[in-house]
Amino acid sequence: MITLAQARALDEADPLRPFRDRFFLPEGIIYLDGNSLGALPKAAVARQGAMVEEEWGSELIRSWNTRGWIEAPQRIGAKIAALIGAKPNEVIVADSTSVNLFKLIVAAAALSDRPSLLTEAGNFHTDLHIASGAAELTGLRLDIAPRAEVEARIGPETNLLLLTHVHYKSADRFDMAGVTARAKAAGALTLWDLSHSAGAVPLDLNHDGAELAVGCGYKYLNGGPGAPAFLYVAESLQDRLMPPLRGWMGHAEPFAFTDDYRPAPGIDRFLVGTPPMLSMAALESGVESFAGADMDSLWAKSVALFDLFRDLVEAHCPELGCISPGDPDRRGSHISFRHPGAFELCQALIADGVIGDFRAPDVVRFGLTPLYLGYEDVFVAVERMRAILDTGRWRDPRFAVRGKVT
Ligand SMILES: Cc1ncc(COP(=O)(O)O)c(C=O)c1O
Repeated sequence: MITLAQARALDEADPLRPFRDRFFLPEGIIYLDGNSLGALPKAAVARQGAMVEEEWGSELIRSWNTRGWIEAPQRIGAKIAALIGAKPNEVIVADSTSVNLFKLIVAAAALSDRPSLLTEAGNFHTDLHIASGAAELTGLRLDIAPRAEVEARIGPETNLLLLTHVHYKSADRFDMAGVTARAKAAGALTLWDLSHSAGAVPLDLNHDGAELAVGCGYKYLNGGPGAPAFLYVAESLQDRLMPPLRGWMGHAEPFAFTDDYRPAPGIDRFLVGTPPMLSMAALESGVESFAGADMDSLWAKSVALFDLFRDLVEAHCPELGCISPGDPDRRGSHISFRHPGAFELCQALIADGVIGDFRAPDVVRFGLTPLYLGYEDVFVAVERMRAILDTGRWRDPRFAVRGKVT
């Protein structure tokens, strides 16, 4: 098994190591939750300062034109497009993932009179909740199938297939090209939630034939707490979809102030209201923190970090059962384990400076973010976990206290 010195040597030889300096990482903390809230890019601190003092403070409302505020949704969308294998005009930044799911489900539902919206049981709950509301409004039937049966359930009744590409808990990954092709062959559209994929796994939406997608800005894209989300619509579909939320920013001429609604051409019609510029600026810094790093190298490092994590846990913490797939092609960039005291273990780890998270009922989850995480981090994290398990310290009642956010 690897030693600490060997882990350090791996970090020294790692060509991605310099990217770590782009982030503010608190001393003594091993941050394994970048799949939930990405670390703070140092550039975001300076950018926020300039945004507040110069752009908002001095330039005031003129900044919409003079500082490119009004183009921010398209400009940042194009930068995200480069990370996910889409054309620059196919991605736009707007709203939250939940709201974007609603917009695309309702818009897509109107394209055919097929009755079924098909999704996976155990999908991220916001996807299921939004799908149930959208189904009720559009008259669709919400069909929720166990993961193993989803593909077989695609058929002539399927209007839209809604799937999360990388599962938030287990990290299981769907075969985007295969599933999309299967749905297409049956005459159905597919909407992918890329919240745990964008900036985490190599994506090629155009190559894989993806039609619709949404994703979070605050996870691997490092856009800051509650960062705006993105949505993707394949070029060929854009002008066929009518947005259900018809805000002025998605109008063909927002500043004509007309009473009638005319959707903007292309992806712009999926904007709703005024972009939140402080948050947009932070997201732009987050997306720019990928500049110069290609997704294949990041993915190769994610795979190496995963293997190291899994092997160390297998060797030193056998009471934890890994639930993430061993095959890299079938998973995302986090690793999850089952343990009956997962919540308490997670809290004990946080108290010892190792931040992961807990997912009900019994999963402890660790995000592997190759931009700013190293081999030594993984080594030390597992060492601290072993110490907590050995001493049984996780059973301390103070670790059982649950906050609103777990
Ligand atoms: C798969 C998935 N979709 C959506 C969300 C959250 O959406 P929102 O940003 O609208 O809260 C999450 C958050 O963890 C997620 O994991």
